[in-house]
Order: sequence, then C-alpha cells, then structure tokens
Amino acid sequence: MSSSLDPNLRRALADHVRFYNDLGIFDFYRREVTGVDPVEGSATQPEQQEDMARTKTAIAVLEACEGPLEATNREREFSIADPAQGLRAIREDLGDCIRCRLHKQGRKQIVFGVGNPNAELMFIGEAPGADEDEQGEPFVGRAGQLLNNMIRAMGLRREDVYIANIIKCRPPGNRTPERDECETCSPFLMRQIAVIKPRVIVALGAVAAKTLLAINAPMSELRGRWYDFRGTKLAVTYHPAFLLRDPRQKKEAWKDLQMVMKELGLPALSKSSE
Ligand code: URA
Repeated sequence: MSSSLDPNLRRALADHVRFYNDLGIFDFYRREVTGVDPVEGSATQPEQQEDMARTKTAIAVLEACEGPLEATNREREFSIADPAQGLRAIREDLGDCIRCRLHKQGRKQIVFGVGNPNAELMFIGEAPGADEDEQGEPFVGRAGQLLNNMIRAMGLRREDVYIANIIKCRPPGNRTPERDECETCSPFLMRQIAVIKPRVIVALGAVAAKTLLAINAPMSELRGRWYDFRGTKLAVTYHPAFLLRDPRQKKEAWKDLQMVMKELGLPALSKSSE
C-alpha cells in the first residue's frame, strides 16, 4: 500500500491518522470483509472479520505514514488483549529514547511507569526527580512516600494502581518540562492509558493537569470537579511535593481523593493521609 499511494493522499492520510492518534485513537475501521480468514482459510465470524479488517486497515494506514517498523510495533499492540503485554510493547517501542533533548541532559534512565496493568485508577505526575532517575520508577522519593500514604488512605495499595508521569526523563535540576518535551513524550503516555483503560485518572499537580487537559487555569479552579479525558473520568489534585511544602492543603487533597473513591465505589474512610 505504501508504495502505490499518491504522495498527496499519503500526506493527508498521515495527518488524519496523527490527528486521531493524538486523541488516543489507534483503531480504524473499514467495511470490506471477505468472510475468509486469510491465515486459516476458514470462514470467520462477523466479529472476527471486523477485528481482522480493523487491524489490517490500521496497519496499512500506519505503514503508509510511519514506515514498516513503527507499524509492526503498533501491529503487536493492536492485537494484544493483555495490558501487561501491551505495556511491554510500548516500552520496547520507546527504546533507549533520544526523541528530545533530555536524553543528553543528564538523565540516567527512562522512567516508564509502574503498577497494575489492569488498574482502575491511574495517577499521573509531572516528571521523574533525582530518586526516580536513580531507581527507574516513578514516585519513589519523599513525594512518592506521601503518594503511597494517599493511596493507602484510599484503602488501596501502590500495587493496585498504575503510576506514570507526563514525561519519562528527568529534566536537569528538576526544572518544569518544556512544552515540546511534553509533546514528544506524551504519545507514549497516551498509549499506556489506552492499554490500561483505567476507570479514573488523577492528575497530580498543575503541570500534569494543564498538559492533559490543555487548560491554563490555577489549581484552585482545576480541582474539585470531573473532566472527560478521551472517555475516561479525570480528577485533579495537588502534587504530593506541593503538599510536603504546604501540609495544610492535605485536607483539600483528601476531598479530591474522596471524590475519586466515591466514583470507584471504594468504602468511605474517615482518615486523612499524613
Ligand atoms: N514528581 C513527579 O511528578 N513524578 C515523580 O515520579 C516524582 C516526583
């Protein structure tokens, strides 16, 4: 398909696919079905036909705009029903990433994400700090200890949820991630979300909230309500590092977490996190 396409059509198709990918949509449908499994040669069920057509079309379209290697990586992800396997495919695709400047600005390792691939609840922070860069896992420093307490206060364990960041490499001196760094890295986060399919996402802090929601507003306005993030409920709360600096805000964060617990049907507990 890639060699026979008119270049203008190819460009338009690539733009179209990228637009949908940016929205977190990786599946594309077409009507044409043959009724015969091309591998087995046997008649297939309508749902199988639909699935096969969907996968083949998506791969062909992606081949046209990304080249065969990226498309092959996606092919694996499309056909993977197991989220753990899907996450492994995304990690492999990320490789030893050099897509933005952060790879040459002192990062020790990529901090991909950690937790339950079937999690109903996903926390998204800003960027790895020094401890995370050292250990290769998000939220393992002081802010991470507080996040663990917040998770426990909800009646959950760290292993029950999935934790990731907007960007996967530590910015030098823990500076705020640049816009282009977020744009380069976030497609991988979008794919992680698409594979995990959490019921609720909690954005930790203003950078995560503003990046995910593309809203420029103060935390006081961002908190305390639900957002629709590509079909998933998203709530915003204070970043644990901010709560370490201003512990008086913990009771406000607890209100946010209680809102999340209610949505997830978790029993209401009266204890706030310390
Ligand atoms: N702060 C973040 O936003 N993410 C981490 O992983 C650690 C600290």
